[in-house]
Amino acid sequence: MDFSLVWKHHALMLKGMVTTLECTSGAISLGLILGIVAGIGVISDKRLYRWISDIYVQVIRGTPLLLQIFFFYLGGPQVYRAITGDTISPDPLITGILALGVNSGGYTAEIIRAGIQSIGTGQTEAALSSGLNKRQTMIYIILPQALRRMIPPLFNELIVLLKDSSLISTIGVADLMFSAKLLGSKYYNYVPFLLGAALIYLTLTVSFSRIMKYLERRWPVRL
Ligand code: ARG
Repeated sequence: MDFSLVWKHHALMLKGMVTTLECTSGAISLGLILGIVAGIGVISDKRLYRWISDIYVQVIRGTPLLLQIFFFYLGGPQVYRAITGDTISPDPLITGILALGVNSGGYTAEIIRAGIQSIGTGQTEAALSSGLNKRQTMIYIILPQALRRMIPPLFNELIVLLKDSSLISTIGVADLMFSAKLLGSKYYNYVPFLLGAALIYLTLTVSFSRIMKYLERRWPVRL
């Protein structure tokens, strides 16, 4: 168990880490956009909007993430060919980000919905009767308070995404997990590389938790 091997190959491990971070940041951004759209959708008065948002959330939460990744990467080109007749070979990283982002959107939608609904109706009534319209009430009264409550679950989502991004190593993305496994098999010595990768994942997730605590403490709106 030669741990100096990890140091010898630190460049490849760090390259993997950068890919992991690229994937995580891409996915959380896409997830936030989809999550906001679907999160507002599930509590919307418009039936079709609510219906589509509901189905999206249910399908995402009800099927394995690994299946969704395979569906995008392996099923996507097949669907594309059936529709257009053209063959494409998708980029694993882009496809991975798409799959993780679409997955994250389903969970983020629930975070947004729960956050908005956690602010009591009394607040809305007070704001409306003091002369604000619905839109102003949402922007100035509900969201500033709701956002603070969304910080912990959103950071939790970020941490889940960082860890689950390791699943895209199965479609050939050279992320941190992939690098660790590759180097392990090169030397037929997995422990140092797996522990090295674990340490990097752990450092990142602990840093995210710290940032979360900081933001929560510093958030300007108190409940
Ligand atoms: N292990 C879960 C699954 O296989 C992944 C859940 C992803 N969760 C998330 N918050 N984005 O479905």
